[in-house]
Amino acid sequence: ESGALWGGRFASGPAPALAALSKSTQFDWILAPYDIRGSKAHATALAAAGYLSEDELAEMRAALDELAARVADGRAVPAADDEDVHSALERLLIEITGVQLGGKLRAGRSRNDQIATLVRLYLLDHAAVIRGMLLDLLDAIADQAAAHPDAILPGRTHLQHAQPVLLAHQLAAHAWPIVRNLERLRDWASRASASPYGGGALAGSSLGLDPRLVATELGLGDPLENSIDGTAARDVVAEFAFITAQIGIDLSRLSEEIILWNTKEFGFVRLHDGYSTGSSIMPQKKNPDIAELARGKSGRLIGNLTGLLATLKGLPLAYNRDLQEDKEPVFDSIGQLEVLLPAFTGMVATLTFDTKRMAELAPQGFSLATDVAEWLVKQGVIFRDAHEISGELVRHCEERGIELHEPSDAELASISAHLTPAVREVLTIEGSVNSRVGAGGTARVRVDEQLARLAEQIAEF
Ligand code: ARG
Repeated sequence: ESGALWGGRFASGPAPALAALSKSTQFDWILAPYDIRGSKAHATALAAAGYLSEDELAEMRAALDELAARVADGRAVPAADDEDVHSALERLLIEITGVQLGGKLRAGRSRNDQIATLVRLYLLDHAAVIRGMLLDLLDAIADQAAAHPDAILPGRTHLQHAQPVLLAHQLAAHAWPIVRNLERLRDWASRASASPYGGGALAGSSLGLDPRLVATELGLGDPLENSIDGTAARDVVAEFAFITAQIGIDLSRLSEEIILWNTKEFGFVRLHDGYSTGSSIMPQKKNPDIAELARGKSGRLIGNLTGLLATLKGLPLAYNRDLQEDKEPVFDSIGQLEVLLPAFTGMVATLTFDTKRMAELAPQGFSLATDVAEWLVKQGVIFRDAHEISGELVRHCEERGIELHEPSDAELASISAHLTPAVREVLTIEGSVNSRVGAGGTARVRVDEQLARLAEQIAEF
């Protein structure tokens, strides 16, 4: 007799081609420890409802512990003809307990409510791993910001020089999206912690089992209100896949800056030898492969999300076998992030900034023109005129190949009577940066406050 969980109504066993298609142990065996935890909790509920005696419950739980130990050290593994993790574990449990006891465990549950619960447990555990890794990355970013409190670089819009900003401000701008991803993980976990166990195949159980006992023992919150929803919904999986994709995208945007900053043309950063790679032909090369892999993997994470959403779209209620396709994409997203994040954090932590080079470039491209316009506003000029006057100063300088602070007093006056020599006090990058004291601005005082709040946020997670 095979270990199949069904077969009574079938005259023949599955065709080999179907068995090959149907088999999922190659990717769902990873859920075995969670399935066993679910089984222990389910045994408690069966005993509470009178379907297992005290002795049977003790024996069942001891057998499940033994099974967990065998799974952990590799003595218990799926067989070639096990359909899925659930079938394999029932076969392996019965090897320990005999069929009289082991054969009782499946009462009042279905693989449908089991799998819906197990995937939540797995994702919750890995959400905690990813959270820890994101916190390490935030520490690395915050440390780099704190180590360069006065460094200035050209802030860009449209990739063109825009206004000078503090490096710490720019770095912190990459930290806040990661903080929001941590918030998303926390919000998601409150939804993911609801328990589908007890929903059975779709309609609930007639055996009077208390789903609360299972949920509590699994460390989950309340059972879901609707057994159809509980077994058929996978929005919790899709939402998790979205969060991993968004993390990938945020890493990718920082990666793109690091890749640009690391070019000869920018020359803002150097990568540590331990976190960069060489070329097999060009001896001089030192490449930002970690950043490129982060950029590349973000595409893969987006693909995992969109593939899953496409699988879910149009599925009628309740369980359909299509739902088995939820696991590989989201498991892959987790695997990719868990291998990427430590390397990425190492790269960020060991970046060396050429603050002199950044400061030299910061005022170029007439990036202080806005400061001139705002200085004029403070002198009582309306902004439309101030913008115009400052623009004429830019044109004057561009034609002569000089920078904004270089025209003589007479040249300034010839452009506008409002342009008195006093304007030169805002034509330094430090003056410009430190004048931006508005909320969230790049002035040192604001950035110091911002970094303190960032540290508080980091401590909160
Ligand atoms: N392997 C299935 C999945 O991942 C488990 C549930 C199977 N249920 C069923 N009736 N075939 O969704």
